[in-house]
Amino acid sequence: MASRPTLLRIYEIFDKHRAASLSAIGAVAALSYTLYDYLTYLSYGPGGLPYNATGWLVSTVLLRAISREGLSTRMYDNPKLPFADQPGYLPASLPQRASKRPRIGPHPVPQRQLGQLPSEEIRQKLLERFSQLGYKLEARGLVEVRQSVMELQHKGIFVPRSRKWHTVAQETRGEITHVHAGLDGSIHVTLSPDDCKKVIEAGWGQRHGLDGVRVLKKLVGFIMPVNYMLIYAPRDEAEIEVAMTIVKAGIGFMTGTREALEYFSPFGV
Ligand SMILES: *[C@@H]1O[C@H](CO)[C@@H](O)[C@H](O)[C@H]1NC(C)=O
Repeated sequence: MASRPTLLRIYEIFDKHRAASLSAIGAVAALSYTLYDYLTYLSYGPGGLPYNATGWLVSTVLLRAISREGLSTRMYDNPKLPFADQPGYLPASLPQRASKRPRIGPHPVPQRQLGQLPSEEIRQKLLERFSQLGYKLEARGLVEVRQSVMELQHKGIFVPRSRKWHTVAQETRGEITHVHAGLDGSIHVTLSPDDCKKVIEAGWGQRHGLDGVRVLKKLVGFIMPVNYMLIYAPRDEAEIEVAMTIVKAGIGFMTGTREALEYFSPFGV
């Protein structure tokens, strides 16, 4: 006698132990989702939280629950927002980014880009340009280059301790910008309200998911201003120029001077 088709037998076993089978499938699905999520977290490389299961848990359970969208621009028109009434530092000629926004990792910290990543060559060029700019301006006393306080892994560009820190600079503890040197080459930079709006509208970046979240003050002792932006990783030389111009606009806003922009022509260091 021919044996019954295997699928049918599997179905019969499943049917007999329906509840147990369903919860086993559920457990496997939940486990693979969790594993996938954890691996995604690790794939960003080290960032602002411990690079292990503890960091992942904090980012996933706690920070995801309080994080917010990053693309609206209404808040920048609020006259109560510091510097909302002042012109930005970006040149009027900021072009529109040529493609749709890249996929961003689901974890608010570290905020990282998952799609549209640059080649190794372009990423190295960006790092070189960023560091050149930092050291040139440091030599002129305009900024200070030291370890990022927002993300402990990367070198950041700061308002010097000798200069006055305005209210937004105090919120970021002086930090203006850093590049995510590890893997993706995206950039965090603090911009004037007017420039935040321009950058979001032209498709070059978005807010950090924890920007303006007040409960953060209780959790970690500080609030990230709505001016704290992610700039997508540049993919070619032209995009490096745009990214560096945005970085310079951040330096201008945070140091309260247009000197950085005057030293270098727009769209070229
Ligand atoms: C993760 O790293 C942090 C800081 O280095 C440490 O305190 C914590 O115990 C680590 N957790 C695990 C599960 O290894």
